[in-house]
Amino acid sequence: MSQRSILVTSALPNANGSIHLGHLLEHVQTDIWVRFQRLRGNRCTYVCADDTHGTAIMLRADELGVTPEDLIRDIKAEHEADFQDFLISHDNYYSTHSPENERYSKLIYERLRDQGQIAVRSVDQLYDPEQEMFLADRYIVGACPRCKTEGQYGDNCEACGATYDATDLINPRSVFSGAAPELRQSDHYFFTLSNFTDFLKEWTTSGTLQPQVANKLGEWLGEGLQDWDISRDAPYFGFEIPDAPGKYFYVWLDAPIGYMASFRHYCDRQGDIDFDAYWNADSEHEVHHFIGKDIVNFHALFWPAMLSCAGYRSPTQVHAHGFITVNGLKMSKSRGTFINARTYLDHLGPEYLRYYFAAKLNGSVDDIDINLEDFVLRVNSDLVGKVVNIASRCAGFINRGFGGELGDSVEMGLCEQLSAPAEAIAELFESGEYGKAVREIMALADLANQYINDEKPWELNKQEGQQARVQEVCATGLNLFRTLMIYLTPIIPELARQSEAFLNLPPQQWSDTQTPLTNHTINAFKPLLKRVEEATIEQLIAASAQPGADAAVTDEASVAQSDLDPIAETIDYDDFAKVDLRIARIVDAAHVEGADKLLQLTVDIGGEQRNIFAGIKSAYDPESLKGRLTVVVANLAPRKMHFGTSEGMMLAAGPGGGDLWLLSPDSGATPGLRVT
Ligand code: 2FM
Ligand code: ZN
Repeated sequence: MSQRSILVTSALPNANGSIHLGHLLEHVQTDIWVRFQRLRGNRCTYVCADDTHGTAIMLRADELGVTPEDLIRDIKAEHEADFQDFLISHDNYYSTHSPENERYSKLIYERLRDQGQIAVRSVDQLYDPEQEMFLADRYIVGACPRCKTEGQYGDNCEACGATYDATDLINPRSVFSGAAPELRQSDHYFFTLSNFTDFLKEWTTSGTLQPQVANKLGEWLGEGLQDWDISRDAPYFGFEIPDAPGKYFYVWLDAPIGYMASFRHYCDRQGDIDFDAYWNADSEHEVHHFIGKDIVNFHALFWPAMLSCAGYRSPTQVHAHGFITVNGLKMSKSRGTFINARTYLDHLGPEYLRYYFAAKLNGSVDDIDINLEDFVLRVNSDLVGKVVNIASRCAGFINRGFGGELGDSVEMGLCEQLSAPAEAIAELFESGEYGKAVREIMALADLANQYINDEKPWELNKQEGQQARVQEVCATGLNLFRTLMIYLTPIIPELARQSEAFLNLPPQQWSDTQTPLTNHTINAFKPLLKRVEEATIEQLIAASAQPGADAAVTDEASVAQSDLDPIAETIDYDDFAKVDLRIARIVDAAHVEGADKLLQLTVDIGGEQRNIFAGIKSAYDPESLKGRLTVVVANLAPRKMHFGTSEGMMLAAGPGGGDLWLLSPDSGATPGLRVT
């Protein structure tokens, strides 16, 4: 096959926080794909950058008393070091606050405008008169217009799930100054996305997206697209719109252009790679974006429409992935499962996690659960117990008995058994089904270990006249090890490099799996990988734990619900007796489209099923809830909510913010039992 020219990106991390497991899932996934392409002999360029613009970064810098430029410079250095230490092979890691990005953002905007695809409309928006800035919904708090709970954000209510406009809040206040916001008008610039509906219907169904993603976008396209607001008013950290003083590009306009800008910066320094050949409308090269499923609309609607309107090619493929859960629950700072890249690296090597992620990834948008016990078992049994073990079982005999010489004979049949699936394994890497690839490779490692078990070189070595056989068996074992390591190179590149050094080989290519190594001298064997100890995981969790941290980013609502609340009034037994608490089994649990905090649960309360909306999305993956017992208030009057009617209430405890725990009865309880 001829050499492919491929440009690959991962989503740009925000420049106001540290790299954590969630970012790593994406960058590791992308890096495996990139390294695989290079191993196959393709030209694959991998660029990324920090996403530096917007209100959040401006405010964060303010909070720290530094300029946004200082903040993004320091964070970029931290991000780069983290990615490097996780062996992420970016060819260029840049910043969206760059001259290249400004140039392309303005150029693309001007092309959209000149095509008549920018509309200017006056918009009503809340304004903080003390801070002198317009306020996004999440910077406004007040009481919910429906249930009256205090301290709700300007878009939806954590307590009852209602969604509303910020202007509907009772007694709204700016989170910055506490001032009552004023309604003011401002001109906003819109990209007329709806004019690209036909183009997007075609593009989203032409093999560019995973089927689940294409279906979801098909629904949105069917419902009709809204024009997209691409401007924000000063003060805003970003690029000013060329013909509109005081108006800035919304961060999500210049963020994806940051992919192009990072690549441009790379091309300008590199010399042998042609920017236009990748981005011209008729380009035959490939552009692949790896992203989380939450930002699909930006990458598979706005971005291709902008590119095509501005006369550029659209992406070849957008690879979306799911979120991470740890032990079935959302990552949580107070549980110690919100693990930063650097904290992980302080305890463990990067390749364990790279391998574990690979073993879990299947090319779909399903969430990925990291189970810490499984992590330890998996890396110890596969990498240490199966793969590295082959080398350590064979190397000593070759080094001590034969001066490192492999000799001229290997068991060809077995070598071919391991090299024959090379193309099938390659297809699994290509389609992102790394988990299946790993299972195939480990099945081959089992064959190799079985062979050594059967041949017992340690016994042959004691027998007269069996030296040639010892050499052949061990040379075969080392050939099998080499093939396995080539397959695993995209996943564990450093281990692969050390294996090449031990086998005295130059950097291997995928095609090298097809030619056995004979009449070759290897180097001395040094232990390649240590087992992971459970105690290390415990230390990692302890180092990540920040008690109460999830609640620290709090609003007033969570303070009001805090576990530090004093117990207020007493009630009569009769009042208590009115509350009908029942044991319930969660039969089904699902995300609620459009709701940030709610899950929809179907619970069995003893022969009767109820539909309940509960604000527990921050803490639970729906899958992990199915089948579990809990306690519900069964006689709460049904409440009509934006998403449907809720017929009861789940009981959960927590300090507020995102962290909470559902109550569970002891084993033996059955659905329908009354709590007394
Ligand atoms: O969601 C995020 O973290 C964004 N910073 C991703 C941007 S990706 C690209 F479009 F720039
Ligand atoms: Zn409410």
